[in-house]
Amino acid sequence: MSVTNLEELFLHTLKDVYYAEKQIVKALPKMARKAGSEDVKAAFDSHLTETREHVTRLESVFAAIGKKPSAVKCDAIVGILHEATELMDEVEDTETLDAAMLAAAQAVEHYEIARYGTLVSWAGVLGHKDAVKTLEATREEEKATDDKLSKLGKSGVNKKAA
Ligand SMILES: [Fe+2]
Ligand SMILES: [Fe+2]
Repeated sequence: MSVTNLEELFLHTLKDVYYAEKQIVKALPKMARKAGSEDVKAAFDSHLTETREHVTRLESVFAAIGKKPSAVKCDAIVGILHEATELMDEVEDTETLDAAMLAAAQAVEHYEIARYGTLVSWAGVLGHKDAVKTLEATREEEKATDDKLSKLGKSGVNKKAA
């Protein structure tokens, strides 16, 4: 990759997040299947629907800047999801597993919030007004999901695990 200016860096980061969102679409159904709590399962299922929309939104951002959607491997999300998969294999107690998966899912959300925050601010500087709105919509859903997962943890999942 050769990146020499902010426009190219924006595009590169867009491809990185596009890769990440597609990996998350693959991971969430597995996490939902493993969840013991109905609330945790429902949270993963509903975020799967949103995440599919995030992929579509990114495609519209590519289109808005006149580029074809393409993905570049994002080592950060590979690492975070690898850790989540390892936990799913290692933790045997269902309630502890729910707490572990909530924590793993929140690591994913924080990664996404960071990336979308950066993309929103770069899109603004670069004058991609439509992209700003689209990326903000996703960022807000990531934040709402993170809050929802925090509440689930506090509302009992973590205590049950303890
Ligand atoms: Fe997302
Ligand atoms: Fe997310």
